Amino acid sequence: MKSKNSLLPVPYRIVKCTQETSDVFTIELVPEDSQQSMEFSPGQFNMLYQFGVGEVPISISGDSAKADRYIHTIRAVGTVTRRMKILTEKSQLGLRGPFGVPWPLDKALEKDIFLIAGGIGLAPLRPVIYAYLANKSRYGRLSVLYGARSPKDLVFKKEFSQWRKLGVELSVAVDAAGPSWKGHVGAVTKLIPNLDLDPKKSLVMVCGPEIMMRFIADPLLGRGIAERDIYVSMERNMQCAVGFCGHCQYGGEFICKDGPVFSFDRLSSTFLRREF
Ligand SMILES: Cc1cc2nc3c(=O)[nH]c(=O)nc-3n(C[C@H](O)[C@H](O)[C@H](O)COP(=O)(O)OP(=O)(O)OC[C@H]3O[C@@H](n4cnc5c(N)ncnc54)[C@H](O)[C@@H]3O)c2cc1C
Ligand code: FES
Repeated sequence: MKSKNSLLPVPYRIVKCTQETSDVFTIELVPEDSQQSMEFSPGQFNMLYQFGVGEVPISISGDSAKADRYIHTIRAVGTVTRRMKILTEKSQLGLRGPFGVPWPLDKALEKDIFLIAGGIGLAPLRPVIYAYLANKSRYGRLSVLYGARSPKDLVFKKEFSQWRKLGVELSVAVDAAGPSWKGHVGAVTKLIPNLDLDPKKSLVMVCGPEIMMRFIADPLLGRGIAERDIYVSMERNMQCAVGFCGHCQYGGEFICKDGPVFSFDRLSSTFLRREF
């Protein structure tokens, strides 16, 4: 059963906390009321409410085929997320959702999928990796380009070797690294020109800082990928998450209900502007 009121947070309990990096942590949440439905589609987000502090939109980073808990991976950047970082197992949070337009996995059928992520941007894309691995025969290849500031800032590192073993083509780039680093050094955008990519049968999903997404769009378009085959997940300040308050307005769209996932052709004229 989903909460009847999409504006009313319902209580969830943390059953597991994992520290991913110095400022990124993953929490696993189960509802206090076991009747609560936890179905979601890859790319959707929940509003997490730290009682007495505030509420923030956070993507679901777990496996949509395992609807027994919500998994969220969070970077502690400000008032609410820093407070959430010190939560422990058994702590309670309010939760409402899931909200938003998911990644277009239906449009990716029989196509090669390219995921491009920067930093915490791998969190909303991880459910796509799980969905692909569970239904590999329905898609072409899955190639993941992942960039972070340094090896210490990579999230989900423990899963990399398993993903590779299962056939995911994973390339990792960092901005700076010591001599023990065996991967690429430099911006993730530099990996695009050498991608084995057929523009007619490829779909690209991108999530990361907005500036990274801008720099990624140009080389992808240069490789012949159509704007409608590039999908990006956008972030803006949110309050209601259901299209009432206008806080997340972006041109003619509301990020909360028309997105957060958009095809690039819907955004290209306004991309990179901060507020309207
Ligand atoms: C649809 C959607 C999905 C999201 N998914 C995730 C997710 O999976 N994991 C996650 O960690 N975050 C995610 N975010 C971002 C997250 O909502 C914000 O980081 C959070 O709202 C910050 O709240 P705060 O109270 O902690 O920080 P605030 O007190 O609001 O901000 C404090 C300072 O941090 C800066 N800041 C705020 N947000 C960010 C940011 N995203 N990056 C860098 N600096 C920032 C502000 O400019 C300010 O200077 C998502 C946002 C949206 C819209
Ligand atoms: S957050 Fe209120 S309209 Fe999007």
